Amino acid sequence: MSTQGKPVPTPNPVPLETAEKSGAVDPGRRRLLEAGIAAGVVVPAQALIGATNVLAQSGTAGAYSDGKAATLVIASHPYPDRSVVNKALWNTVENSQGIVFRRLESLYGDDIHGIDVETERKAYEGMDRVVFMFPIHWFNLTPMLKAYFNEVWTQWAPQALKGKKMLVVTTVGAKASAYTREGRIGFTIEEVLAPMKASANYAGMIYLEPLAFLGVSEADEKMIRACQDRLAERLRETSDKH
Ligand SMILES: Cc1cc2nc3c(=O)[nH]c(=O)nc-3n(C[C@H](O)[C@H](O)[C@H](O)COP(=O)(O)O)c2cc1C
Repeated sequence: MSTQGKPVPTPNPVPLETAEKSGAVDPGRRRLLEAGIAAGVVVPAQALIGATNVLAQSGTAGAYSDGKAATLVIASHPYPDRSVVNKALWNTVENSQGIVFRRLESLYGDDIHGIDVETERKAYEGMDRVVFMFPIHWFNLTPMLKAYFNEVWTQWAPQALKGKKMLVVTTVGAKASAYTREGRIGFTIEEVLAPMKASANYAGMIYLEPLAFLGVSEADEKMIRACQDRLAERLRETSDKH
């Protein structure tokens, strides 16, 4: 499943932009990467303040601080090296306070059978909010996120996660106009995310209003910054606010 250095094997189901069509990052998005936008040079000033309090469990940065985390962020992207928008969002997470951040591919590559179930379950301890962050690919979850639910949630989730909040943060290539009844997709993004809401319901969780960034295939620097700002804002919301 790893595609490092290889073209993405599947074409897009909707007329998305060149990066997805060709399997390569297009020159404009590449420039954004090189300019450091996606690498997180540009993050909200208020998020930077919390940089030392990040509780990162991404596998690359494993240190905990003494700060108390209340939010667990589980992120997944099957092609992390090609990501522009999610990469920028990960940086915002890493610079936000009170967060335990776990990137599935960073921890487990694309090994759907290699997920450390006990460690993943333990990561929920003391958390009142769980954020799932992923790009929409084929109107669906990423393979590692699906594997995560298969392995980690099972019948364990309803007793363990009841009452916790779930926030879905997703990025979507096609424009908002496509995600309407009359639009090309014929479904709203809320409908596309129905499996996440159903999973939250199954586990007795409180499903928060999802944060969906639509039309990101055309994202420029300004739009990516706006996405980062909006995410930082949602992450700052205290649990009693949502
Ligand atoms: C294999 C693949 C499938 C995709 N499927 C969809 C899709 O079903 N609907 C859509 O709107 N965008 C689709 N896209 C576009 C992605 O959602 C978009 O590229 C991504 O959210 C951008 O985030 P990134 O820069 O972190 O990769 C697809 C992209 C790829 C590579």
